[in-house]
Amino acid sequence: MIARLVIFTLAFVVASAAQSQQPAPPQLDPNQTQGRALFSKSCTICHLPPQLGAGTFGPQLSRATLDGNESILRDVISNGMPHMPGFKHMYQADQIDSIVAYLKTVPAPTPIAPTPAR
Ligand code: HEC
Repeated sequence: MIARLVIFTLAFVVASAAQSQQPAPPQLDPNQTQGRALFSKSCTICHLPPQLGAGTFGPQLSRATLDGNESILRDVISNGMPHMPGFKHMYQADQIDSIVAYLKTVPAPTPIAPTPAR
């Protein structure tokens, strides 16, 4: 009986510790939420969400992309780049703005620390 209680308590402590390590997801306003939806529909095929890490076709995007310069971000998303299609015919300016607003909520990826040599 006591052992069960101990196991239960331990499981609870471990579970809540694991939970508290997750950073709280940023609260998105409706505009940013729309941007996130458009982003997952049209962009993640080439720009995977940061938590999935490197190895994506396009660079990881975050609030640090292009120094967070909103007019350059808008321009790149509208007109594309050599290996990226532009979206100005697919999305209205306010939809592109919402994608930019969403990107500004994505934390910059922390560089992966190199494994120390042994
Ligand atoms: C077909 C693949 C593809 C899709 C779809 C795509 N991108 Fe890209 N994107 C790229 C590639 C590749 C680059 C790197 C520049 C280049 O090589 O043209 C890039 C670059 C960028 C950059 C500039 C990054 C930098 O640091 O210079 C931004 C911003 C960006 N993409 C945003 C978006 C957004 C927002 C969407 C969705 C609306 C999107 N991309 C959809 C492939 C894609």
